[in-house]
Amino acid sequence: MSPVLEIEGLLKTYQSVFGRPRAAIDRLDMRVESGQIHGFLGPNGSGKSTTLKTLLGLLHADGGHMAIFGQPVPRRQAAVAPRVGAIVEAPAFFGNFSGFKTLSLLATAGGVPRQRVGVVLEQVGLADRAEDLVRSYSLGMRQRLAVASALLKDPELLILDEPNNGLDPQGVREMRDLLRAQADRGMTVVVSSHILAEIQQICDSVTIISRGRTVAAGPVAEVLALADQGAYRVRVEDHHRAAEILTEAGASVSVAGDHIIVHDLADPSWVSQALGVNGMWVRELAPVAQLEDAFLTLTGGGPRRGAFRPVDDSDWTTEEHPA
Ligand SMILES: Nc1ncnc2c1ncn2[C@@H]1O[C@H](COP(=O)(O)OP(=O)(O)O)[C@@H](O)[C@H]1O
Ligand SMILES: [Mg+2]
Repeated sequence: MSPVLEIEGLLKTYQSVFGRPRAAIDRLDMRVESGQIHGFLGPNGSGKSTTLKTLLGLLHADGGHMAIFGQPVPRRQAAVAPRVGAIVEAPAFFGNFSGFKTLSLLATAGGVPRQRVGVVLEQVGLADRAEDLVRSYSLGMRQRLAVASALLKDPELLILDEPNNGLDPQGVREMRDLLRAQADRGMTVVVSSHILAEIQQICDSVTIISRGRTVAAGPVAEVLALADQGAYRVRVEDHHRAAEILTEAGASVSVAGDHIIVHDLADPSWVSQALGVNGMWVRELAPVAQLEDAFLTLTGGGPRRGAFRPVDDSDWTTEEHPA
């Protein structure tokens, strides 16, 4: 069976007003199988929105191959569009319309039967607020209204660009339940994020990108295992000093936030020994199994591993990019 979504060698260069053109997407690959929730992960500015806009025909690719349901896009965009629901740019809703009216107008415009409005309001948990004006909705409710608008045509593939942006933990939980419910009905869901902890809990598979290029992909468990081969997270009082000591002692060490990661460690007791003789006491010594760490190892300060291209840490300090 061909994948629901396939991207191979995608290239996209933005023409900059100043200076030379810059490749935002640089030979990106992505593959999503049917019925999965697929996480599309990367730091801010790594090219997630550009990829999704290009896939949906909103931007022109400069090279590569893309297919949705086995049909090449953008050439066959018109044929696949009725089967794809997407929110890539936050839609602007009229505050003076109710949720029900908003969706009814969108249904009419999209040639979708009006009965779908009640169905999707129920699906996103807005049925009891449907008559209230959108301006009275919380951000989480507006996000769910946006998802409802993408669900109107009962798509087989749902694509959401950073649906958790700006949501509080409760909103994130609601979004997660909503996406899981769609996947349980057989829908394929692609959801992008720059925050891993949220995605890790709902995705079956992931594509991790950095600087417009795929650095890891596959089932979440497999991607986790990639970073779990002898990598340990170490917390001590002074982690910079600990990194120095362990590096001098011959270990491969990267500093990640308030802790360090020691790579390719055969025997973790070596770490407590090496730090202990220097008067440093280990507070935590644990195998790296969180996707967040995998993400850091694959795209950040970790050592070169197989085909993955390490990049410097600067990606991680980048604030929001203008999109
Ligand atoms: N319209 C644009 N013109 C020029 N550069 C852009 C434009 N949109 C995005 N970029 C650049 O392309 C890169 C990828 O951006 P984007 O796809 O928005 O990343 P993400 O969605 O992962 O945060 C960034 O370096 C960004 O600054
Ligand atoms: Mg984006």
